[in-house]
Amino acid sequence: MTNLQQLAARVAAEFQKLYGRPPRWIVAAPGRVNVIGEHIDYNDGFVLPMAIERYAVMAADSSSSSNSFSVYDAQFKETAMIDISAPVTKGPPKWSNYIRGVIAGFQNRGIKIPALNVAFMSTVPLGGGLSSSAALEVCTATLIETATGAAIDPVEKALLAQKAEHEFAGVPCGIMDQFISVMGRESRLLLLDCRSRKTELVPMDDPSVALLIVNTNVKHELSGGEYAQRRLQCEAAAKILGVASLRDTTVEMLERSKASMSEVVYRRARHVIGEIERTVHAAEAIRNSNWPAAGNLMYASHASLRDDYEVSCKELDDVVEIAESIGVKAGVFGCRMTGGGFGGCAVALVKTGNVEAITKQIADGYKSKTGINATIFVSRPAAGATVIKA
Ligand code: GLA
Repeated sequence: MTNLQQLAARVAAEFQKLYGRPPRWIVAAPGRVNVIGEHIDYNDGFVLPMAIERYAVMAADSSSSSNSFSVYDAQFKETAMIDISAPVTKGPPKWSNYIRGVIAGFQNRGIKIPALNVAFMSTVPLGGGLSSSAALEVCTATLIETATGAAIDPVEKALLAQKAEHEFAGVPCGIMDQFISVMGRESRLLLLDCRSRKTELVPMDDPSVALLIVNTNVKHELSGGEYAQRRLQCEAAAKILGVASLRDTTVEMLERSKASMSEVVYRRARHVIGEIERTVHAAEAIRNSNWPAAGNLMYASHASLRDDYEVSCKELDDVVEIAESIGVKAGVFGCRMTGGGFGGCAVALVKTGNVEAITKQIADGYKSKTGINATIFVSRPAAGATVIKA
């Protein structure tokens, strides 16, 4: 049984325990890791994420006895009762806002939400920078599509989930996380042009290499406000440069305007311009199985996020330093922080044959530097949102 089938069986069993019958529908949506292209989606550039084998799963059936969309979180043993007889608004518990936002999105499209009983579980680590919230949003959207038969276009679906995050969770995120959770494919990375929203699948199926995800298990509370501030700084840079977004500019243009912007805004823009170029080159390197080149671009991305964009933290830098010290000969091609930053995960491109030794070296090195146990796992590129039982 795959990871996902096992998880689906567990959630179905939780549903059965609660309601005394098997669920009618089971749906899932994955978290993601971004290989490269960080803090680029809201600058209209290219990003290169993949869906991971960690999922939000919902098992459900219609409810004849209530007028609510009731979701039982089997992990934290808490139920969210969402009244669907009126336009859905924000409400308790906090995590239900991701679900509420998606329901509201469907209501806005004129889709009548059925009363449902839902059991829910997620294996996407919370606050780990692997898009647990996008997985929950896209999972909810997939359940509503399945239960109502009102399938919506994948791009529209991802945008609806992003809007839920903006309006119900208050995070002004870009489009990357929701797009990959909807559109991920097995053995493929997704090269997403965040301006045109065009996607290209990049094969990542060479068995000799693997992506290792290293969760630092730290989360710095700064992240919410810092994220919005980075967006504003990028907008300020674009305004000074006279362009719609930093996608439209070059290093030469930036250098010419250096004197008219603050040093911080200059560095933010330098990261974005460089990262867009690195992402395009990394996709090309991966298409050609040029792993050393892809790995070096990952290191360069990390340095830029650390020094120019300032969204890394000591623990992420420690992981990247340890990975770099292991080196190519011992199987590490590259490593970088992934996701919004300020904690969460790093991602390393490694030789499959060395995974065990590298995992141990990173775990030991990280523990001795920080006193913290990292959580380390490999994931192949997974499929996006799926209906397991319809
Ligand atoms: C978070 C956001 C994404 C993206 C990344 C940084 O994950 O949700 O939209 O901006 O940060 O690349």
